[in-house]
Amino acid sequence: MSVQTLSNRHGSAHDLRAASARALAHIPGDDGWPIIGHTLTLLADPKGFVERRAQRYGPVYRTRAFGQINVTLLGPEANELVLLDSQKLFSSALGWDILLGRLFPRGLMLLDFDEHRLHRRALSVAFKSGPMQSYLAQLNAGIAKGLAQWPRGGQFKFYPAIKQLTLDLAATSFLGDELGPELETVKRAFIAMVAASIAVIRVPAPGTRMGRGVRGRAVIVDYFTRQIPLRRERGGEDLFSQLCRAAWDDGSLLSDADIVDHMSFLMMAAHDTLTSSLTSFVYQLAANPNWQENVRQELRGMGLAAGEPIPFARLDDLVLTEMAFKEAMRLAPPVPSLPRTAVRELEFMGFRIPVGTRVAINPLYTHHMAELWPEPERYDPMRFDVEASRARHKFAYVPFGGGAHMCLGLNFAHMQAKCFTWHLLNALEVSIAPGYHPDWSMWPIPYPRDGLEVTLKPA
Ligand code: HEM
Repeated sequence: MSVQTLSNRHGSAHDLRAASARALAHIPGDDGWPIIGHTLTLLADPKGFVERRAQRYGPVYRTRAFGQINVTLLGPEANELVLLDSQKLFSSALGWDILLGRLFPRGLMLLDFDEHRLHRRALSVAFKSGPMQSYLAQLNAGIAKGLAQWPRGGQFKFYPAIKQLTLDLAATSFLGDELGPELETVKRAFIAMVAASIAVIRVPAPGTRMGRGVRGRAVIVDYFTRQIPLRRERGGEDLFSQLCRAAWDDGSLLSDADIVDHMSFLMMAAHDTLTSSLTSFVYQLAANPNWQENVRQELRGMGLAAGEPIPFARLDDLVLTEMAFKEAMRLAPPVPSLPRTAVRELEFMGFRIPVGTRVAINPLYTHHMAELWPEPERYDPMRFDVEASRARHKFAYVPFGGGAHMCLGLNFAHMQAKCFTWHLLNALEVSIAPGYHPDWSMWPIPYPRDGLEVTLKPA
């Protein structure tokens, strides 16, 4: 069976997975509790769980969680093997399908190999520097407006506020600023879809998250489909309008269904990841006031007035800001684990991994390996200066993945982080109460359970 055939036939892939479960007895590990396996232990403390298993079983081990047997491969060599995938051994579609397939079908992470390459090439026009400049204009305006409404003095829950701001920013930079009365409906539908993608109950029964997610998808599909002809006629610089004009290699336009699927997927891929990374970044800046000051000095040395928009051409000058943001994502990568399914048999570190095995790599674990990151729990952006970065294994730092499926929005994410920091730290000082350590949940995407209490005051 060819790789392409396997990734397109979910039924047979399922059979293959079941068969491979029996064939995984030689991989170190255990099945955990009857029925639930390791699900609850994993949910309670994903980072500790992986670390304990690595200590007990080594860098290749087997677990049973969420009704699936998985083989985890740890460390930079594993990341390189799976992400670079030079031999086309791993399907991303069959890895992510369980989580994302129902609500975000045919998004880029749910396509493989040649088909994926064609779609990715068609989409990449929306991330070239011309369109990026117009997204930045929207981000500059939206962030300045959003921050002006945040309270000065007193305790302020950062996480819900940045989640809302990121959604508002996506509405303008992704969809354009003329959404009108449908804006709130589209936002609500989208939030329901994102929440459902990580729901424990996967059946779309009424009253469940998945049920609301499926209804949300119907709203989004209807909205995007109606809008496509209008956007094609009217033009526009937002991401949606860019995709409406995107074309295949032969010059023909993407189909309506493709545009709808890619748009929904892009919004999902951007939303929680940006929210999570900006939250851990602001927490680190508040917990490390010396670094907050270093970054502020860099901003003030730019020779621009504080309230001005940050120009696209000056983003690369924010070197320390970028290092400080990267270090926050090292400590709390927004996508802590990346799933795949093996579509060919392979061997890694002496272990045979049969076709159909669900495989996961773990950026969260790699980002805390003491042999790669001395004193791994310490926040130290200097780890990302040019020399230190060059000396490290290329796959030691993988918050955006790597290889063919490397995050398409990486530059967008860095741009939004820099634009946000520019407006935030020029105007405000962020602090936390002495001794305050928010309780982070690392699953499914890192977030502070209490919303992250900070205080903002004029800088
Ligand atoms: C800090 C923010 C972000 C992080 C940490 C992040 C992380 C990731 C990771 C780890 C992957 C690869 C998953 C895999 O290989 O299985 C990925 C893929 C992707 N991301 Fe992001 N992402 C971020 C923001 C964004 C944004 C803002 C967008 C869009 C504007 C975006 C769009 C995508 C897309 C389309 C893919 C699929 C690429 C492909 O399969 O070819 N991401 N992202």
